[in-house]
Amino acid sequence: MRLLITNIRTLYQTEGQGEEKKVVSGGQMAKVPSIDNAWLLAQDGVIIGYGDMVTVPETVADEVIDATGRLVLPAWCDSHTHLVYAAPRTQEFADRINGLSYEEIARRGGGILASARRLKEMSSDDLYDQSLERLHSVIAQGTGAIEIKSGYGLDLEGELKMLRTIRRLKENAPIPVKATFLAAHAYPLEYSQNKEGYVNLIINEMLPKVAGEGLAEYIDVFCERGFFEVAETERILEAGWKYGLKPKIHANQLYASGGVQVGVKCNALSVDHLECVGEPEIEALKTGTTMPTLLPGAAFFLGMHYQPARKIIDAGLPVCLASDYNPGSCPSGNIPLLLTIACTQLRMTPEEAINAVTINGAAAMELDREMGTIKIGKKANLILTNKMESLAYIPYDYGNNPVDRMILNK
Ligand code: NIG
Ligand code: FE
Repeated sequence: MRLLITNIRTLYQTEGQGEEKKVVSGGQMAKVPSIDNAWLLAQDGVIIGYGDMVTVPETVADEVIDATGRLVLPAWCDSHTHLVYAAPRTQEFADRINGLSYEEIARRGGGILASARRLKEMSSDDLYDQSLERLHSVIAQGTGAIEIKSGYGLDLEGELKMLRTIRRLKENAPIPVKATFLAAHAYPLEYSQNKEGYVNLIINEMLPKVAGEGLAEYIDVFCERGFFEVAETERILEAGWKYGLKPKIHANQLYASGGVQVGVKCNALSVDHLECVGEPEIEALKTGTTMPTLLPGAAFFLGMHYQPARKIIDAGLPVCLASDYNPGSCPSGNIPLLLTIACTQLRMTPEEAINAVTINGAAAMELDREMGTIKIGKKANLILTNKMESLAYIPYDYGNNPVDRMILNK
């Protein structure tokens, strides 16, 4: 299959052959390389050429798209989601509006524990079917690669049920899917007085089984006051490394609990959330290669203060943005809306925000060799937009879907 796209108004996030860009950081984030009036040629799902229309090849293609007035970008790489879940939590939404906090709801046995109860009741087939539906709906909004976590199982059987569902998605989805093992999401009620017992269960029973079946690439811990403390986080991450699972952790969402520092110390691929970061966390991030991943959709939905994106970028660090799609703190995987929040609330420029969900999103799930930029040899997972003048129109036109058509595996 050969697909030729011609007359592209602007082709964004182009990367030359000699370049080896894995991540963009600091001041580099302000720029998204582009070519006006461009063409792109893909073969069997891989980009095999692109350039200015004056160089358009006279090639025989199975399909030709005339993209006059429209933009082409690499598809979004959403590196943090909990897209496999059983049921919405609308009651908690109402409870929060009436004054209860996310933490208080969790302490009363709601939140993650409520999702775990609903997951137990649902058949694996139903869980798969509705997760696939969610996946298709985010793909229609531009997502072209995704990470999905377990964490609503909270026992061996439940975690395996989730991870096997993610594996089924991986096998059948039209986009790359990465799996993360997150048993350390909350303490099940029966372990509320025996926290060490649950950590031992994760390390000694769940982890060997998950790794043995090859069900996950990454390991995650909700490192937070009232959830998993720093010492417990470190134990779990070290155990994960022994099985080759790299850490990607929840850090500094509710408090400055030391999550960022322990993530950097354990060579985490990313530390995610970061509502509560200041100078010590930024200094820690400067000492390693751990990606700071911001999840402003959760801050938006919980009515919390936003992540200090400007301080992180101005310190010369990279920033990644991800949706956090989950039934509690962010029931949306809509990346275009996330881009608007990043621009208006975190004061990221449209270019910085686009870099954060393309090249940096790819890096935060180790897909930088295949996704994140327009480069010969990379996957042709592309967004063809509606008619618009420039990339800034995507976050500007908020609440609307910029996607005319997703190009996947063509
Ligand atoms: O990233 N904070 C921890 N985990 C999820 C929320 C999970 C839930 O509430 O179901 C998050 O916000
Ligand atoms: Fe999350």
